[in-house]
Amino acid sequence: MASSILASSPGAQRLEGKVALITGGANGIGAVTAGLFCQHGAKVVVADIQDEVGRTLCDELGGAPIATFVHCDVTSEDDVRGAVDAAVAAFGRLNVMFSNAGVIDAPKPLADADVGSFDKVVAVNLRGSFLVAKHAARVMVPAGRGSIIFTGSVAGVMGGLGTYGYTASKHGILGIMKSTAVELGRHGVRANCVSPYGVATRMATEFWGKGSEEDLERRMGAAANLKGPVLRAEDVAMAVVYLASDEAQYVSGHNLVVDGGFTIVNPSLSAALAQ
Ligand SMILES: NC(=O)c1ccc[n+]([C@@H]2O[C@H](COP(=O)([O-])OP(=O)(O)OC[C@H]3O[C@@H](n4cnc5c(N)ncnc54)[C@H](O)[C@@H]3O)[C@@H](O)[C@H]2O)c1
Repeated sequence: MASSILASSPGAQRLEGKVALITGGANGIGAVTAGLFCQHGAKVVVADIQDEVGRTLCDELGGAPIATFVHCDVTSEDDVRGAVDAAVAAFGRLNVMFSNAGVIDAPKPLADADVGSFDKVVAVNLRGSFLVAKHAARVMVPAGRGSIIFTGSVAGVMGGLGTYGYTASKHGILGIMKSTAVELGRHGVRANCVSPYGVATRMATEFWGKGSEEDLERRMGAAANLKGPVLRAEDVAMAVVYLASDEAQYVSGHNLVVDGGFTIVNPSLSAALAQ
């Protein structure tokens, strides 16, 4: 039986009529997702601590009412509450919450690790995601629908890919996502994660960075399972559009890895045996 979803053409605006809030939306994966959301007909609220960058992006996307910026530090509950209230005040509803803001600290051996640095990463990535989910729930539950998407990471699936704070926070986000999907499912609200492999954004280039984005992409490609395509922010954004759209209306509690199979294989044994 043809449904309205299946009847929509591939080029259709898949987020028409939806209002989305994106934390960490001024740069990188969040900014590219904001652009793709707008292309698909959504109204977007970009929430970030980088006010100038965020405002410029929103202007480039068409300005109000298509894309508006709100200052929001996800470690502040007042800021997160204010960002959600600003979206509802502007558009009357919030359909999609993309909890994407994230940071990473400098890698150090465990015995030398800095607790303050660990706390800061967890405060943004994990506690911030909890606050974002909490305030999304506040408005989505009464509405009886909504989609909450968290940015996880391959470092939330495997150990040893990031710092302790980063790895712990990304594993923890999966727990928040699952509990959110369980509690809010009865209210018609979905929760999912998108978990990318390395993308040469500012964060990744600074963390791994010995050089340029091209150099990082080359090194990421060398370590990748899937050879050929280079993972870009656009690939992650397309996965987020799917999870935000009604095409994913029965998808909840899922961690959508965008990693070319990186997390399902450990090549070290076959490499050692091949020598
Ligand atoms: N780039 C990668 O390789 C990669 C891989 C897996 C997961 N991720 C995740 O993707 C997400 C986006 O990262 P990115 O790679 O686009 O990096 P990025 O540095 O380009 O973007 C991160 C954004 O988060 C914002 N931000 C930082 N602290 C904030 C705070 N306290 N409140 C609000 N906003 C804040 C920054 O201003 C920036 O705009 C992060 O959660 C990151 O952990 C990235």
